[in-house]
Amino acid sequence: MPTVLITGGTGMIGTALSRHLLQQGYDVIILSRNPIETATAYKTTSQQNSFRPSGRIYYAKWNTDTMMIDPQALAQADHIVHLAGEGVAKKRWTKKRKEEIRLSRTKSSELLFKCLNTHPNKVKSVVSASAIGWYGPDNGTVFTEEMPAAEDFLGQTCQAWEESIDQVQKSGKRLVKLRLGIALSNEGGALAEFKRPARFGMAAVLGSGNQVVSWIHIDDLCRAFIHAIETPEMHGVYNLAAPEPCTNKELTLGVAKAMNGALSIPLKVPTFVLKLMLGEMSIEVLKSTTVSSEKIQNTGFTFIYPTIQSAVKHLIG
Ligand SMILES: NC(=O)c1ccc[n+]([C@@H]2O[C@H](COP(=O)([O-])OP(=O)(O)OC[C@H]3O[C@@H](n4cnc5c(N)ncnc54)[C@H](OP(=O)(O)O)[C@@H]3O)[C@@H](O)[C@H]2O)c1
Repeated sequence: MPTVLITGGTGMIGTALSRHLLQQGYDVIILSRNPIETATAYKTTSQQNSFRPSGRIYYAKWNTDTMMIDPQALAQADHIVHLAGEGVAKKRWTKKRKEEIRLSRTKSSELLFKCLNTHPNKVKSVVSASAIGWYGPDNGTVFTEEMPAAEDFLGQTCQAWEESIDQVQKSGKRLVKLRLGIALSNEGGALAEFKRPARFGMAAVLGSGNQVVSWIHIDDLCRAFIHAIETPEMHGVYNLAAPEPCTNKELTLGVAKAMNGALSIPLKVPTFVLKLMLGEMSIEVLKSTTVSSEKIQNTGFTFIYPTIQSAVKHLIG
């Protein structure tokens, strides 16, 4: 089976995607700044020509400061999934942090491009993450892929990210860019934030709670990456969010109800408190983003969890 090299594969999405790929019989190499199994161990096995015993994930090193990728990892890859980037919601958006968020994406794309040009490889396709942060507040519009990037920080970051990975096409690689909605997983990310107050019997509704959230179940997200790898007709950019977005209130109350039954106490977090707590990032949790998933569905992709009820039921029970 082919080998998929995942940049930033130690993160929430990469960990889930690795599991899905292994289940489908793929081999997986994870590029990390700090590989868990050391690059030495990885090289030792590859020197013994027993590089890919089935069901194993290998970890290889890269460094976007010194512009280095373990050449053996690249040589083995049939496909690349590009996920690497500083966590957008992990710290407050200072000027320095914004630069880290942007550069971690553009520099890693540039490194991929440079190495694909200079190292012998058999890579056929690159499937890169982007985000629905590309779009600004929807004001009632349903966003489709050809719409321009927003002028705000996330819009401009996504644009720089997508432009930086576009370069791999110059090396003759097929490129698919997936603009991801909010990924719902039991292993971190946004759902953990919704679950926290629910543990204390509360449902924290943000602002009015009427803002639209374009979300996706982690299993559908992983299946879509594999679909993009396996569908040679796919090129360019696709939104990746469940066909039925929901409001913040529906998501919050849905999670709380699944965890506590009907007993949860709705707790409104006012807009000014969010602004104080999150600064500029509050814009993102308060704005509506409705995206169309029609383009990816037209490639034959189907969602197992199209509604928030089905996703929450599966994730929380
Ligand atoms: N989760 C979501 O809801 C969501 C929504 C839209 C878009 N996305 C995008 O999808 C990608 C994966 O998301 P995720 O939730 O799995 O993120 P994550 O858990 O934060 O993982 C991202 C990985 O990127 C690597 N990384 C972090 N900073 C880096 C840097 N400065 N240089 C190189 N690598 C760096 C890290 O790997 P090492 O420490 O091992 O190097 C980390 O494990 C991200 O780019 C994210 O923006 C996610």
